[in-house]
Amino acid sequence: MIIAVDGPAASGKGTIARALARHYGLPHLDTGLLYRAVGISVMRAGGDPANPAHATAECGFSEALLVDPALKSEAAGRAASLVSSHPEVRAALIRRQQDFADQPGGAVLDGRDIGTVIAPHAHAKLFVTASAEVRAERRHRELAGMGLDTRLTAVLQDIRARDERDSSRSAAPLRQADDADLLDTSQMDIETAVQRAIALVEARI
Ligand code: C5P
Repeated sequence: MIIAVDGPAASGKGTIARALARHYGLPHLDTGLLYRAVGISVMRAGGDPANPAHATAECGFSEALLVDPALKSEAAGRAASLVSSHPEVRAALIRRQQDFADQPGGAVLDGRDIGTVIAPHAHAKLFVTASAEVRAERRHRELAGMGLDTRLTAVLQDIRARDERDSSRSAAPLRQADDADLLDTSQMDIETAVQRAIALVEARI
């Protein structure tokens, strides 16, 4: 069974994907980490994430990098959003993601284009979203929890910029697959969202 979970930044898709993986006993891949790994590698090499050649040169990163805590930073998220707009980078990362999705027994993958590009054959597809304001508040709380002092308005601005970049790019833009179920978590706590996600998956399998 393949479960695809897509949606914008801080929508709750990562938490929901992890909970689904636990519930069904499936391996989980947060595909954002792959783009973050490329973004961080470009920055560490002194390159420019907006430059397709610099970004493509870093697509062969080692698996070990995926557990580097620096991948969680806002800087890595911004760099990921830039490198992910290059079609060459997306092409270089497709294979890893499809191999993960197609392993025997199935998998849960979360990202932006899982239901549309990586695993259009997924058995269940969720498009998880929430208003930009709610997502900014969640992200702001998360950053504060990490001891980072950021302004809510700055976080909201960043979320809006990322939404715009992810939705307007020509290569695999963020969009809901025609056969995906929409889950708007704006008014839900995480437990409710997870229960709702399980119910939606159950209805599809
Ligand atoms: O989900 P996360 O915030 O870790 O993703 C970082 C960036 O990577 C996103 O803003 C998006 O531009 C890109 N991404 C993507 N396709 C995916 C996962 C992430 O383009 N499947």
